[in-house]
Amino acid sequence: MRAAVYRRFGGPEVVRIEEVPKPVPQAGEVLIKVMASTVSVADHRMRARDLPKGLGFFGPLVLGVFAPRKKILGMDVTGVVEGVGAGVRRFSPGDAVVGLTGVHFGGHGEYVCLKQDAALVAKPAEMSFEDAVALVFGGHTVSECIRRCPIKPGDAVLVNGASGAVGSAAVQVAKHFGAVVTAVTSAGNAELVRSLGADLVIDYAETDFAASGERYDVIFECVGNAPFERAGAALKPGGTLLLVIVDLEGMLNAKKNGRRSVTRVLPISFTPTSADVAFAIDLAQAGALRPVIDRTYELDQIVEAHRYVDSGRKRGNVVLRVAG
Ligand SMILES: NC(=O)c1ccc[n+]([C@@H]2O[C@H](COP(=O)([O-])OP(=O)(O)OC[C@H]3O[C@@H](n4cnc5c(N)ncnc54)[C@H](OP(=O)(O)O)[C@@H]3O)[C@@H](O)[C@H]2O)c1
Repeated sequence: MRAAVYRRFGGPEVVRIEEVPKPVPQAGEVLIKVMASTVSVADHRMRARDLPKGLGFFGPLVLGVFAPRKKILGMDVTGVVEGVGAGVRRFSPGDAVVGLTGVHFGGHGEYVCLKQDAALVAKPAEMSFEDAVALVFGGHTVSECIRRCPIKPGDAVLVNGASGAVGSAAVQVAKHFGAVVTAVTSAGNAELVRSLGADLVIDYAETDFAASGERYDVIFECVGNAPFERAGAALKPGGTLLLVIVDLEGMLNAKKNGRRSVTRVLPISFTPTSADVAFAIDLAQAGALRPVIDRTYELDQIVEAHRYVDSGRKRGNVVLRVAG
């Protein structure tokens, strides 16, 4: 099968299209013919070994010491089940599915095997493969945030990094649950985040949200520049800082910082479940979550896709068409 493979860490050009063996589903696994995936910031982090401060020590254990452990990137996937291993009951050949390959990656190849109990659900027939896969990365992350910190009608919610894959989902989900949403973004993305439901928009080049005197019930930190030391001042007593991106120090100090300031500081771990994927797909079907697709690339354009994601300026998601 054809796949985008990287055999050393580095810039976008380390990724190449190669012929590699097609995977064979083992017991409990489904073989998926991949229609689409996304090129996400997670792919960038793996490829470039770009981990948050302090986590570099653990990096080699996860990513590989001298060469990448997982040679085919792609953390999310949508496609059609082509075969199943022994004991698979949840899916049958011909089923259209969408989900997360997660830390196994592999979405940037024509076929991938996933365990039947992975974060995988049926794709609604009326939803395109591109739309479905663009819901997963941000949608499942926000689902985990909401599980740990339910949002109530009237809550003041701030989303830092509102135009990214996670931020664009967070704005819509918070709005769906009745929050008054403030989006922090650049001027160029103000219209986008308003169209997603943001009530107020802060241009980060003009205003520092943390120094403005406004207080929030919930802050989604999706950029990496608003740790507790900065964002804590903008939390109401009892408010919650959801650290979607956090460095080692922020992780270790989260509980202590929360106790001291009578707030909650929650580092968001990466533990996707099929319920998290279903959350995103169901909300989309209900019209409450729309996939934000910035650009779509073909598998052969994988280097360009990585280059664009590396810019740090993508809006929502970059979709990669893999088959067909
Ligand atoms: N914990 C988890 O399980 C988990 C899951 C998913 C993602 N993450 C992490 O969460 C972070 C966000 O992921 P993502 O996929 O949403 O990233 P992304 O899509 O790459 O975010 C790109 C967006 O960030 C915005 N941005 C850049 N600098 C900004 C600033 N100073 N203030 C506000 N917005 C800014 C850009 O908007 P402008 O062009 O307008 O600046 C761009 O639209 C990443 O670090 C990722 O590793 C963690």
